[in-house]
Amino acid sequence: MQNSERVGFASKLGAILAAAGSAVGLGNVWRFPYETGNHGGAAFILIYLGCVFLFGLPIMIAEFTIGRRAKASTGEAFKKLAPGTAWKYVGYMGVLTGFLILGYYSVVSGWTLEYIFQSATGNLLGKSADDFVAMFNEFSQNPWRPLIWLVVFVALTHIIVVKGVQAGIERASKIMMPMLFILIVLLAVCAVMLPGAVKGLEFLLKPDFSKITSDAVLGAMGQAFFSLSLGMGCLSTYASYFNRDTRLGYTAMSVCVIGTCISILSGFIIFPAAFSVGIQPDAGPSLIFITLPNVFQQAFGAVPLFACISAILFYILLALAALTSTISLHEVPTAFLHEKFGFTRSRAAWLVTTGSLIIGVVSSLALGDWNDVRIAGMNLFDALDFLTAKIMLPVAGMFVAIFVSWKLDQKKVREEVTNWGTLRAPYYPLLIFLLRYLTPIGILLVFVNELGWL
Ligand code: PHE
Repeated sequence: MQNSERVGFASKLGAILAAAGSAVGLGNVWRFPYETGNHGGAAFILIYLGCVFLFGLPIMIAEFTIGRRAKASTGEAFKKLAPGTAWKYVGYMGVLTGFLILGYYSVVSGWTLEYIFQSATGNLLGKSADDFVAMFNEFSQNPWRPLIWLVVFVALTHIIVVKGVQAGIERASKIMMPMLFILIVLLAVCAVMLPGAVKGLEFLLKPDFSKITSDAVLGAMGQAFFSLSLGMGCLSTYASYFNRDTRLGYTAMSVCVIGTCISILSGFIIFPAAFSVGIQPDAGPSLIFITLPNVFQQAFGAVPLFACISAILFYILLALAALTSTISLHEVPTAFLHEKFGFTRSRAAWLVTTGSLIIGVVSSLALGDWNDVRIAGMNLFDALDFLTAKIMLPVAGMFVAIFVSWKLDQKKVREEVTNWGTLRAPYYPLLIFLLRYLTPIGILLVFVNELGWL
């Protein structure tokens, strides 16, 4: 049943774009700036880059290897490649993580819809920085409004997931990704030219190593995993749809580079703008929603129509980038339920949609009425983000590295990385070294360090 129903990506470019579509999303434009702001700027970014290329890139190739080899979604892939072992729990954990992230990620995705609405109705025009802060607070604390957008967003995701892999994901990614990229570059140029932007540039480019705490390192690692969609079998599920001549190393490198560029460019929009209007860089999850409207206002305010149109376009593209990520988050548990329990795709999708709505509602209310429900000092939204991004993703990533480099037959791994001997892949020994030693030990050290055992 499994193989007969599997469809592939129509082109190699489609495969890359779909993986990049999963990776690029709110993680780059929303989460990266606020984590960078929370942890003091440039020095955090350097550690982040280290995490992307030393942990993220090899683990991404490892996930691709697992997915394409097993030709199954992540939950089943480990079972197929290592039958009768406990490795399947790494896959199951990925399914659970994807499901949890989908819940709170959809809340923020819903916010982008509110901002499309606000910009389309002209409400972002003629306001001051303080007005934007008030506007966001009022919105996020309103018990209904964010929930309505949440439902709309989850419904959109549901529809695309049910339509199937090729038709939905591939077609969407091809058009949206390049457009988003161009607009982000444009906005970065505008933000850098705002009065007082220099301070923001300094924040981004001048590392202050005294800001590097164990928290910052854990944050950078979590951000790398979150932003690259690693550690939850998302990319391995996509790789199960790759065909035999998709180049795994090249695809992984492209995704890492595209994702990193968009994150850094987003920093170049947010921080110059934030310093220019006096918003603190450590404002947290609200950071881009209170900063960005200022860019439209200040840079294009003289021509209101232009300000309006550019804001609408940006929020639409951001919503679409979020959508390609929620699709991939949704796909993991849906494919799992479909393949493991034999549910139809549509019924599997309904179960995932209902569950993620419940998590979404709870995390949305956690920013308003339920803000005083706390776990380890965090509201439920932040706690969920902490648990998934900073713990579950890196732990699963570590196991993925160990699985591919120690457990899988190395002949099979080499076959996947070199496309059955048709590619040279001179980096292969380095890849295996990183996966065997550096990556798992590095991730472990970050945890140990955070717990204060060092
Ligand atoms: N990487 C996505 C982003 O940056 C979020 C995501 C995480 C998607 C994990 C899939 C899996 O927005």
